[in-house]
Amino acid sequence: MLETSRMRTKITAAITAIGGYVPEDKLTNADLEKIVETNDEWIQTRTGIKERRILRGEGLATSDLVVPAVRAVCEKRGISPEDIDVLIVATVTPDMMFPSTANLACHKLGAKNAWGFDLAAACSGFLFALTTGASLIESGRYRRVVVVGADKMTSIVDYTDRTTCILFGDGAGAVLLEPNIEGYGVLDSILKTDGSGAKYLNLKAGGSLRPASHETVDNKEHFAYQEGQAVFKFAVVGMADASYELMQRNNLTADDIAWLVPHQANKRIIDATANRMGLPQEKIMMNIERYGNTTAATIPLCLWDYRKQLNKGDNLVLAAFGGGFTWGATLIKWAM
Ligand code: UT7
Repeated sequence: MLETSRMRTKITAAITAIGGYVPEDKLTNADLEKIVETNDEWIQTRTGIKERRILRGEGLATSDLVVPAVRAVCEKRGISPEDIDVLIVATVTPDMMFPSTANLACHKLGAKNAWGFDLAAACSGFLFALTTGASLIESGRYRRVVVVGADKMTSIVDYTDRTTCILFGDGAGAVLLEPNIEGYGVLDSILKTDGSGAKYLNLKAGGSLRPASHETVDNKEHFAYQEGQAVFKFAVVGMADASYELMQRNNLTADDIAWLVPHQANKRIIDATANRMGLPQEKIMMNIERYGNTTAATIPLCLWDYRKQLNKGDNLVLAAFGGGFTWGATLIKWAM
């Protein structure tokens, strides 16, 4: 009896609006064929990517991806940026080292009553930020938390390195979290980090370890570095294991899950995760062919793309793997 009443009054963080933004400019596989020694066939079979979006223009940065995504959320929910309590921006391509991109975006949005911060967990950034934002709602302290995944990956891509430059694109996706007492929203998460994986996927310079110098620039240490095959092996295991464990501990079978919402790094990693969960192809959200890997933005951009196909009560498993290493899975009961 006591347990029942406790469950009824438990506050969860429900997603009550979603927004996304990708720049107009496209970088196709054919465009890349003119820049590096590659070809459309290789890129499509190895990654599933056909094109990516590129934020071009002087003075434009990650906050310029965040702002339209958050505006879309506010419009959808019929609120003003001034109604936002907290803005969390998951990114590894902040406008500057400081102030935070969240800080700059709040200013551009006119979100005068919000505080905010950036969260760096690479491709798992949105999942880490979502659980962080959900905790702020569950605590009862805040009523409107906006969580954004945004990256201007083209700012850290070396367009002479064919092994990485074909992968990444720019974009942002945002969700509004609000309190719910009917059991909808963020229900569970398994989140992991393992710093021993740093050597396989990193951006070496510009931090306190290797401040910018002529040497770091000459060595191209301000670009993303990835040992693709090594990351691939960890990603397949990490993403699939976390998703499977999340299903098990919530007593969910494949039939109970409406959608897998995976980080879009490689179609083969996504398929391996879906296989482990026993999910058919039609339950997997996929837009890697149009946007490439937008790092922290992939998962919210999937939710944004598929929003019209989501129904109230749907169980969604969000899954990611990224640099750090960071990885995890989150269970959501869709509230809209
Ligand atoms: O989002 C964060 C987490 N990141 C990931 O999850 C990414 C995980 N890794 C991957 O998705 C894959 O490793 C990649 C898509 C990055 C690469 O695919 P791969 O099947 O692992 O290729 P590979 O690196 O083993 O390269 C195979 C061959 C090599 O040639 P040789 O040595 O066999 O002659 C490469 O030099 O393909 C060559 N290659 C290319 N060829 C044409 C590498 N890049 C290209 C290219 N175009 N762009």
